Amino acid sequence: MIDMLARKIFKFIKVHIIAFSLGFGFAVLTFVGVNAATAPFSTSDYCGRQCHEMRTSYDTWEISEHGAGKIGVRVECIDCHLPPKEKFFSHLAVKAYYGARDVYKHYFGDEYDLEKFQKKVFESMRDQTCLYCHDNLLANPSGPAAKIAHVASLAGPDLPETRCLACHEQTGHHRKDKADDD
Ligand code: HEC
Ligand code: HEC
Ligand code: HEC
Repeated sequence: MIDMLARKIFKFIKVHIIAFSLGFGFAVLTFVGVNAATAPFSTSDYCGRQCHEMRTSYDTWEISEHGAGKIGVRVECIDCHLPPKEKFFSHLAVKAYYGARDVYKHYFGDEYDLEKFQKKVFESMRDQTCLYCHDNLLANPSGPAAKIAHVASLAGPDLPETRCLACHEQTGHHRKDKADDD
């Protein structure tokens, strides 16, 4: 009797462990596979140089604080324009959506209007995007003005006057004409 019960339990565990391992293995393979398959579409070269529409954005990024990397760090297109990679599913979903949309527009869309997109991106980018990396903003300010500005900014996230882009509009794309006014 006990013997049978033990055997049943053992069988139950065995079946579940096998199922679990298979599932787990599949999940790992999918994860690795999807990452490998989408890696070529994640580089700034791919995002910025394949379509003529993106050339200006690529060029202005290259000479920006984030593209040139004053201290040798390059922040890639996807770091600002997609949800963070750790949010695996939204990162992939948004990437797939943008990719499909851009390809569609490239072939079937109206004439590309850079200023319209600039305005759209400018309005839609959240402070959260910047704070993902600049999470220690108050720790090492370049001066008192920066400190005051950032205390206000952190107190009023995404508000028109205190959002990051209110003062750092060109941080991802440096446009000489506008910078000359600074
Ligand atoms: C540091 C964050 C950041 C990075 C990195 C970045 N962008 Fe942007 N991007 C922005 C912001 C902010 C705007 C809207 C404000 C603006 O540029 O005037 C924008 C605007 C755009 C636009 C709208 C048109 C335009 O040029 O303004 C496109 C397209 C674009 N980015 C593509 C790219 C591509 C391609 C790359 C990589 C080669 C890239 N971005 C890298 C932050 C970034
Ligand atoms: C993926 C990480 C990342 C994201 C996202 C990001 N940055 Fe940066 N940023 C950096 C790095 C790295 C540097 C260069 C090193 C430094 O000076 O801190 C930099 C530099 C800067 C500088 C220049 C600092 C200096 O010393 O002159 C400003 C201003 C800035 N970022 C603002 C922003 C804003 C605003 C956003 C959102 C639109 C943003 N960053 C998004 C990582 C990021
Ligand atoms: C009211 C204007 C203003 C706002 C809003 C603002 N900043 Fe700044 N920021 C400055 C000034 C001024 C400096 C110092 C001079 C410079 O580097 O441009 C600065 C400097 C920086 C630097 C360089 C390091 C430092 O602390 O001096 C980074 C990084 C930065 N800002 C990121 C951000 C992020 C991220 C946000 C949004 C949470 C933001 N800023 C919002 C005005 C602002």
